[in-house]
Amino acid sequence: MAESITITDNRNGESMEIPLVNGGVSAEEWAKLLPGVWFFDPGFMSTAACESAITYLDGDAGILRYRGYPIEQLAESSTYLEVAYLLLNGELPDEDQFAAWRHDVTYHTFIHENVRKRFLEGFHYDAHPMGMLVSAVAALSTFYLDAKDIFDPESRNKQIIRLIAKMPTLAAAAHRFSVGMPFVYPDNSLDFAPNFLSMLWKVAEPRFEADPVLARALDVLFILHADHEQNCSTTAMRVVGSSHSDPYSATAAAAAALYGPRHGGANEAVIRMLTDIGSIENVPDFIATVKAGTSGQRLQGFGHRVYKSYDPRAKIIKRTADQVFEVTGKNPLLDIALKLEEIALSDEYFTSRRLYPNVDFYSGLIYQAMGFPLEMFPVLFAIPRTAGWLAHWQEMLDQDSKIARPRQLYIGSETRDYVPMESR
Ligand code: CMC
Repeated sequence: MAESITITDNRNGESMEIPLVNGGVSAEEWAKLLPGVWFFDPGFMSTAACESAITYLDGDAGILRYRGYPIEQLAESSTYLEVAYLLLNGELPDEDQFAAWRHDVTYHTFIHENVRKRFLEGFHYDAHPMGMLVSAVAALSTFYLDAKDIFDPESRNKQIIRLIAKMPTLAAAAHRFSVGMPFVYPDNSLDFAPNFLSMLWKVAEPRFEADPVLARALDVLFILHADHEQNCSTTAMRVVGSSHSDPYSATAAAAAALYGPRHGGANEAVIRMLTDIGSIENVPDFIATVKAGTSGQRLQGFGHRVYKSYDPRAKIIKRTADQVFEVTGKNPLLDIALKLEEIALSDEYFTSRRLYPNVDFYSGLIYQAMGFPLEMFPVLFAIPRTAGWLAHWQEMLDQDSKIARPRQLYIGSETRDYVPMESR
């Protein structure tokens, strides 16, 4: 059977056969028959904006793979730094490649003193750490002018290393500032996650020793959040990057997209929701309010544009949560979350709409038990997603992609004459 479709323009009877390639219809072919007639697809519900070899996602089957490797295997056996290398380079590193990669990332963790002293410390005392992170990443572009050489492989690689290495430092600096604690310099003898925890929690001890269970849990969360194909922030990265801006500016745009409650802010919304519910007895009433739809209230951490079954990341996070709670003690909100899940998964409203827990439903409980304030949750998402953003940015540049520039369907006024103010 031919892998194609035939469309007919009923205005003039003209037909055209359009091949289906990789499951997609080429809009370029389509436009040959219908020049000037645009696809109307707000929210890109039915549009594939690129070809990509980075992440495979099957939302119906609940499958997520990075470069072909199942997320379950990576979460079990890999580390965030190795996964970042995989996303960016397409293959798992051998020992020498990993040693070099780890060395490079470790030795680029420091930030210019002006970023911290003059820039970050200039924020208002109650600045949201995610707002600080977005701004600080954008500011980095002014410190690395070579970042503009995006087609020079050496320069490109250097910016990628800098961004992956400096995100935890900026994130920790934003946190320390928001709680009024002095900045902690990176300790380059530590691994990625323990170093981040040291920059966050170190007080007066000469060397901060992170609990290995918590450091590993954080690393697993970083693996799970490292990429998710064409999500809102990655799309922002590709769109901004398509104009050939430097990677710091594009990453700041991606982080800004992640800031929103529909994307990276959802785990914060979950904790607020669970806190508002307050106790297990109130769960049925809350579910009834969500279903009535009158308050605009949604079950936070449920539903996904792509997953129409249980988010595979949520399954792993649920297990990780148990390990973390063994160290920190159980988060008292866990029982409410479990009850919500139990009721929702057996309720026709949620099952018929195929709404299941997503990655954010349980991750916030872990972050909270580890001692992170709610405002840090999107920041914790941005750190690992930087690897995914950069992998897509690099892929987009290597594909010599066109500048992103969609069309619109104009629905405004017809032409009209300007009226002087006194005559309006
Ligand atoms: N609670 C209650 N009803 C919901 C929910 C929810 N969480 N999510 C979707 N629905 C309903 C929605 O009201 C609609 O019902 P109807 O057909 O009767 O109008 C139907 O399900 C389809 O919803 P939609 O808004 O058209 O779906 P979408 O694909 O545009 O939205 C979503 C996806 C993630 C924005 C949405 O499910 C949502 O708002 N979830 C809560 C926020 C959340 O957990 N976000 C994190 C996403 S995962 C992390 C990430 O990758 O960023």
